Amino acid sequence: MTAQELSALVRTGDGLVHRRIFWDEEIYRLELERIFTRCWLYLGHETQIKSPGDYFTTYMGEDPVIVWRDKHGKVRAYLNTCQHRGMKVCRADSGNASSLSCSFHGWTYSSEGELIGVPFFREVYGADLDRARWGLREVAKVTSYGGLIFGCWDAGSISLGDYLGDLRWYLDILIERPLGGLEVIPGMQRYKLPVNWKIQAENFAGDTYHVISTHRWTAKLGLRPIGLEIPEGAFLERKAYALAFDHGHGLLETMFNSEAYEADLTAARRLDPEITDYINACHDRLEKRLSAKQAAVYSWGVGNIFPTFAIQNFQALRPVEFYVWQPRGPQRIDVWQWCALDRGAPTKVREQATRYFLRHQSAGGLFGEDDTDNFEQLTAATRGVIGQNCFSNYQMGLRHDASSDPKEYPGHFGFRMSEHCQREFYRYWAERMAVD
Ligand code: FES
Ligand SMILES: [Fe+2]
Repeated sequence: MTAQELSALVRTGDGLVHRRIFWDEEIYRLELERIFTRCWLYLGHETQIKSPGDYFTTYMGEDPVIVWRDKHGKVRAYLNTCQHRGMKVCRADSGNASSLSCSFHGWTYSSEGELIGVPFFREVYGADLDRARWGLREVAKVTSYGGLIFGCWDAGSISLGDYLGDLRWYLDILIERPLGGLEVIPGMQRYKLPVNWKIQAENFAGDTYHVISTHRWTAKLGLRPIGLEIPEGAFLERKAYALAFDHGHGLLETMFNSEAYEADLTAARRLDPEITDYINACHDRLEKRLSAKQAAVYSWGVGNIFPTFAIQNFQALRPVEFYVWQPRGPQRIDVWQWCALDRGAPTKVREQATRYFLRHQSAGGLFGEDDTDNFEQLTAATRGVIGQNCFSNYQMGLRHDASSDPKEYPGHFGFRMSEHCQREFYRYWAERMAVD
């Protein structure tokens, strides 16, 4: 697909994105090649593999991978297919092993990726097999940022630090605020959705607008998160921003005026003095370890790191939630999501946050069900020939006057209710798709 063809489909200057990019099989195959083998992809969190030999399995695009802490403590990632005939080497979600054996013919690999065992090697292969050449295929680059492990198949790609760019200023808040560090609690939620991966990703990268309609009923029933019971009329008045970053990342509901901290304090005072102390300690820690400006931001709402890694970080009283939208075809994703808690938080906060995880954006949660129903219905409604052959509208805020935006902070500012992050998401998508 040429750059010219792509720019006809993704006209971000006009706020128009053609629906073909959510349906076309050829475009999907190109995405797997040009995005999922070239961008940095989130693999998991370091607390999921604390000791040598710990591993978990996941996917990069549609390629299964094993993320394995080797015997020296180094985090490595390998294609999870046997070099003999392609069987999945590791069929468990997670575990600990110094070596893994393929269940088909028994080839065995070490945590350093070497082929260390071949049944009846001498008898059946003699000198015909050079074992040193048939170790597991290793992911070219694996790097952590504040405990978040990313991998990239492209040895020539920019560094993870450069890929995250200015987003790091905000990620640092998520990483540094927890008193005892973030820990992913064991287990995860997984569910399948009949939607294109970009529909889910752009929602987390840029769609504050839907909250008013889609999730309005939760406020009416008094089910909003504690401390965030904003009167309906005041919702639009909030001094929050949508921030876009180079390389397609987007962040929503970011405030610079200590409002997030004040909301947590108000909620904490209603709960327990111990929790008030905890909130103040988190704030102090940000001030000491980062800066007064980052302490005033304190948390941000939700974001998507291009292409498929999303995070929720609304409050210190809520869990940090990690999501990966695993692509499984033009109209299918597997949603994987994890709950992360502050190891240093009081037990009451941890318990409340865990309950909140289940109630909110999870498979059976109030917000999660609202969102997934929208995504499924819009996919079904655009299945037809006419429905697919239309542009979707991303024009909100296209001509927004940004003169009052606080430009001294990192990121490209957009008004809170705008589709500027989605436009940047698709602009970068088209840029990557145009590279042969
Ligand atoms: S496919 Fe793994 S040993 Fe044959
Ligand atoms: Fe939502």
